[in-house]
Amino acid sequence: MTNRAWIFEHPPVGDDFDSALTFRDWPMPVAAEGQVLVRNLYLSLDPANRRWMAGPTYMPQIPTGAPMWGFVMGEVIASNAAGFKPGDIVGGVGTWADYSAVSTDGLDKIPDMGGLPLHTAMGLFRGPGGTAYVGTVDIGQLKAGDTFVVSGAAGSVGSLAGQIAKILGATVIGITGSAEKCAWLTQDLGFDHAIDYRHEDVEARLRALAPQGVNVYFENVGGAVGNAVAANMAKFGRVAVCGLTAQYNEERAPIGLDIMPLLLQGCTMQCFILYDYLDRLPDATAKLAAWHGAGRLKYHPDIRDGLENALDAFKSLFQPGGSHKGKLMVRVDPKAI
Ligand SMILES: NC(=O)c1ccc[n+]([C@@H]2O[C@H](COP(=O)([O-])OP(=O)(O)OC[C@H]3O[C@@H](n4cnc5c(N)ncnc54)[C@H](OP(=O)(O)O)[C@@H]3O)[C@@H](O)[C@H]2O)c1
Repeated sequence: MTNRAWIFEHPPVGDDFDSALTFRDWPMPVAAEGQVLVRNLYLSLDPANRRWMAGPTYMPQIPTGAPMWGFVMGEVIASNAAGFKPGDIVGGVGTWADYSAVSTDGLDKIPDMGGLPLHTAMGLFRGPGGTAYVGTVDIGQLKAGDTFVVSGAAGSVGSLAGQIAKILGATVIGITGSAEKCAWLTQDLGFDHAIDYRHEDVEARLRALAPQGVNVYFENVGGAVGNAVAANMAKFGRVAVCGLTAQYNEERAPIGLDIMPLLLQGCTMQCFILYDYLDRLPDATAKLAAWHGAGRLKYHPDIRDGLENALDAFKSLFQPGGSHKGKLMVRVDPKAI
């Protein structure tokens, strides 16, 4: 057995990831007491990984000179922890590597997927779907008839949030970075409207599309896009702040969301991290599975093959109008289904 890993050399400066992460052969990890050794099948690539590199967040600082951390799904091949045995399929925080030694704290056993591809557990149900569901239903308090706007709309969370809002009876407007992605949102995913923020005036387009204002804004990117939506909120609108991708590579805290229009409209703004709402996952998963099974919710995995290609794929998360749509993952084991 050989192991390869992306080693976290130092926190990146801006979007210079090439020196921050290096790819090399790496000793096979050993499962310490309370850990399992996992053969990674899939690695999830998430904008949050960039924040983890910058310093402690809801996660501790990633140690330098060791494999980069990320959400993985894989097969237990050795267990030094009660309740886990070789052959179990698990998901949790592991490493950008062929093999991860992981603590069983927060490690989930992946149930039988009932004929769905295994990556659906990582790409639809848990992080992306759970976040989209909680942000739309619990934080956004979406009601039928609302006008719902989501930024990062062609991404993993945004593409699901918009579809959930549509299922719940909202008029849905997605904001994304290319005409091709806009067409995908409206033609394939059933969004009512889409705005290409790189080539259109978001504020003016929203004024025209939602003359009564936006009731719920699902914020994924922040920056100028966020302010353009804030300027179009309806009275007592709700802003669910999920992520701020546009500022993850900034060295200094940028000028943030302009709160003034939210104040004038009496809006509620609430930030949320899925980790604080894990008790909502069973409900979210049941609803997502039912909608997906009934063909009402489309899951779009964007799977890149080969651990060695993880960094190039990761960069696309920070490229406005970048190459991926839906949930970005790396297939670490070429045979994984
Ligand atoms: N709160 C939580 O618990 C939680 C959980 C999961 C994710 N999140 C957050 O949710 C957000 C979306 O995550 P995701 O996994 O779904 O990522 P994603 O949307 O699949 O990928 C990021 C996308 O953001 C867009 N983008 C990049 N730079 C931008 C910029 N400067 N301005 C505007 N858009 C830009 C790009 O798409 P375009 O083509 O549209 O430019 C890119 O593809 C992230 O901020 C993430 O950290 C939060």
